[in-house]
Amino acid sequence: MDAAALLEQSARQVNDYFARLDARYPTAPPRLVEAIKYSLMAGGKRLRPALVLECARACGDAEPSPTALAAAVAMELIHTFSLVHDDLPAMDDDDLRRGRPTNHKVYGEAMAILAGDAMTTMAFEIIAADGEPTLVPALVTELAAASGPAGMIGGQVIDMDEQHPPRKLSDLQRLHRMKTGALLTASCRMGAIAGRAHPDQLAALDAFGRHLGLAFQIVDDILDQTATAEELGKATKKDEAKGKVTYPMLIGLEASRREAREQLSAALDVVQPLGPHADGLRALAEFVVNRKR
Ligand code: IPE
Ligand code: IPE
Ligand code: MG
Ligand code: MG
Ligand code: MG
Repeated sequence: MDAAALLEQSARQVNDYFARLDARYPTAPPRLVEAIKYSLMAGGKRLRPALVLECARACGDAEPSPTALAAAVAMELIHTFSLVHDDLPAMDDDDLRRGRPTNHKVYGEAMAILAGDAMTTMAFEIIAADGEPTLVPALVTELAAASGPAGMIGGQVIDMDEQHPPRKLSDLQRLHRMKTGALLTASCRMGAIAGRAHPDQLAALDAFGRHLGLAFQIVDDILDQTATAEELGKATKKDEAKGKVTYPMLIGLEASRREAREQLSAALDVVQPLGPHADGLRALAEFVVNRKR
């Protein structure tokens, strides 16, 4: 299956799950549920859930198990929360996301903050309630570690520190690995855990996720400079305006493209031992580096 078909499939599975979410929270304030669904159903690429499901498949899951699906949905909830908060006036102050006005533009800042908070708690609830009980502790630990102070949230804090922008490539790499790479690596690790990976399979998928995670944010930096808002569904040419240090700024566009391709080839190398079961992952990795959105 090619990447477009895999992403479409993961979008379908995740969207079906999201469509049933209202029923889980019958007493929640309807406006809150509306704000949550507004951002969840705005049509992201669903890359992280696709990675969860394909990593489970690479470990031998022919069909997505309820545990893999719960992990995929939880990951997309955390990712969407990170976007809603990333766009807030106190952070990147963006008006457009996933082709629509940002959550705080429609529902106000207080609701956007609270909708993001709720998405976080929902993610952990879904794993705990719908995951296979023996796998839940490992999955919850992965998701918490990747989103927390040493992962995405820590990366966002470093990204917001205008007084100490990264000056060396190694600092920028660390920032990218935290703010973006951590959730992509965790998507791979959680898929592996749901697929009951052997230790060597888990190690391969972890390394794959690390390479892909860095490649993903390098390409995000490149697209901010080179793509249009229509293509991306979010404002472009914002990084420089906001004083952010990016890959193209530090090493130039061509070297950034080269670095993304090198990360891709390293990612493909580490999953070679997984054989044809990992073909979907290979397609997703190519997509990450060659994408236009
Ligand atoms: C954007 O992620 C935010 C970053 C981590 C750079 P995506 O490009 O995966 O966003 P969606 O989910 O497709 O909207
Ligand atoms: C955001 O990075 C990463 C997270 C949301 C955690 P960016 O700020 O570059 O993401 P975009 O470009 O707004 O999607
Ligand atoms: Mg940001
Ligand atoms: Mg941003
Ligand atoms: Mg960006």
